[in-house]
Amino acid sequence: MEASDTLDRQSESELYFPPESIQQNANAQEYDKLHAFSVQDPEAYWGERAEEFSWYKKWDKVLDDSNKPFFKWFVGGKVNIVHNALDRHLTTYHRNKIALIWEGEPGDTRTFSYFALHREVSKFSNVLRSMGVKKGDIVTIYLPRIPEQVIAMLACAKIGAIHSVVYGGFSVEALAERIQDAQSKVLITADGGWLRGKIVELKMIADEAIARQGTIEHVIVVKRTGQEIYMEAGRDYWFEDLINLPVANGLNAPTEVMDAEDPLFILYTSGTTGRPKGILHTHGGYMVYTATTLKNVFDIKDEDRWWCAADPGWITGHSYIVYAPLLVGATSFMYEGAPNYPYPNRWWRMIENYGISILYTAPTAIRGLMRFGDSWVKRHDLSSLRLLGSVGEPINPEAWKWYHTVVGGERCPIMDTWWQTETGGFMISPLPITPLKPGSATKPFFGIDADVVDEEGNPVKAGEEGYLVIKKPWPGMLRTIYGDPDRYKEQYWSKYGNMYQAGDSARKDEDGYIWVIGRIDDVIKVSGYRLGTAEVESALVSHNAVSEAAAIGLPHELKGNAIHAYVILKAGQERTEGLEEELRNHVGHEMGPIAKPDQITIVDSLPKTRSGKIMRRLLKARAMGLPEGDISTLEQ
Ligand code: WT7
Repeated sequence: MEASDTLDRQSESELYFPPESIQQNANAQEYDKLHAFSVQDPEAYWGERAEEFSWYKKWDKVLDDSNKPFFKWFVGGKVNIVHNALDRHLTTYHRNKIALIWEGEPGDTRTFSYFALHREVSKFSNVLRSMGVKKGDIVTIYLPRIPEQVIAMLACAKIGAIHSVVYGGFSVEALAERIQDAQSKVLITADGGWLRGKIVELKMIADEAIARQGTIEHVIVVKRTGQEIYMEAGRDYWFEDLINLPVANGLNAPTEVMDAEDPLFILYTSGTTGRPKGILHTHGGYMVYTATTLKNVFDIKDEDRWWCAADPGWITGHSYIVYAPLLVGATSFMYEGAPNYPYPNRWWRMIENYGISILYTAPTAIRGLMRFGDSWVKRHDLSSLRLLGSVGEPINPEAWKWYHTVVGGERCPIMDTWWQTETGGFMISPLPITPLKPGSATKPFFGIDADVVDEEGNPVKAGEEGYLVIKKPWPGMLRTIYGDPDRYKEQYWSKYGNMYQAGDSARKDEDGYIWVIGRIDDVIKVSGYRLGTAEVESALVSHNAVSEAAAIGLPHELKGNAIHAYVILKAGQERTEGLEEELRNHVGHEMGPIAKPDQITIVDSLPKTRSGKIMRRLLKARAMGLPEGDISTLEQ
């Protein structure tokens, strides 16, 4: 984010203090003292947190670091995250509390108490069990943002199956590749989803993906949009039919007793090289970590109405729509569609209608809504809001200030949370007692030992740029990359040996505030979504006109970064009219709309190193009119 760098530095001196009333009542108090204790003795800190949950059997050891970097947490403990997210609430007043309020894009609504959500999850878990899904099986979920997405994930976890959720905005190849890597036999999808008044044809995409790989035996289809779709006899079943079978309705749907370290889910994310990585999280540590971070950072209270406006298909939704809010007994709101449909006041209207008290979203969404002007916000009474949140990329100070002033009425502190798919939950973030600096995620969470270091791993001086690292393990950390432990070691632990390398550059100012700058690898953040240049390139090369491709991210006002791609055509391939557009659409069809390059340029050659690696850095510098830097390795 080079463009906003100067602005970041300006705002380093500005401090915003959360209102007294918020500070005094905050769940978290005394940051410095508790943080110091928590990193000196993480086992004591996390052991205490884990006591707040219900375990079938208590752990023998909080942290087992005998086989670094394959850390284990709450070893010997028996638990199930769903037992804590749902079952245990049934014997308290939470039984009748609202767990989830949902609004569809067309305006339909559904509400679930903890009792009702538990019942739906139990029914669906019976269905899965009756289909032969067992502990350890991987179920792929490809759904729009509807309650069945939450229900399906929880039903898998309840029976000890591992869910692999594929974001509903992804398309054919992205889905096929993820099903393939996980070797899933069961896919849960829908006829379609609503987006901007149109139907996203999920089942059609799923059928094409299934045809490309051979593992899927059963498809469960939720009816959402109702249009005519293809259903394959003996393979495809309607969710509604299954859930009404007698076998689903036995009231006794036992929750599987799991080891704390048993896998809960894998979630694919983009890395530096080709295939997406299946990030693996577990029942015990992830449970303790997500709930503790939500409770402290967003200060969840019984009377709150929490809205995490992400998609359950990304880690933000896994942790802070599905699991953590239920673990802490919160009331959540979830919305299916686009923020500006049918008008740019959609979000603000819903905040007013439902009395939302905490809104958590991404800078790209804030910038997108900001562009429609203040009047859309101001016609609504947003006085129910008490806290705001941001995630996904650095928030530029202009967007921060608009969010703070226009949306938050200057009374709502903004929790700018830095974290990753790999970290499970918030890592660097303010608490409601932290003085804020617009654009900084401020300080590490309890138990998190974060630093900014140089190539050798030594802390850099205040104000200098370096690599963001985490020096100690934490319960919410990924355990491995599914099926590829070597890649896990190499990717996250090889540079320094004993520190987790996040893949981001950052600097720390004189007050110890951390300013995340951005990715240092070939990962591009487009509208907060994480995409690998390699995935976009392989989608391009899968088109029969293309022989080679290079993708880079260039700064973009709304999206943060936009993808630009350079392609070399196959010999003899004509440069036909509209070919660039055809290639953009091809990437959309293979990967999904978010991966569509903003611009495609057809070129005769690409800058490469002598060993044949494409120099994307050079392409970027040239496109931005910046100095080319060190080009000694360039093949001339
Ligand atoms: C990357 C991780 C974790 C949920 C969403 C993204 C960037 C994330 C911030 C922030 C600056 C941020 C980093 C990180 N990022 N939050 N508050 N400030 N940068 O998860 O898709 O795994 O992406 O997002 O570059 O490495 P993800």
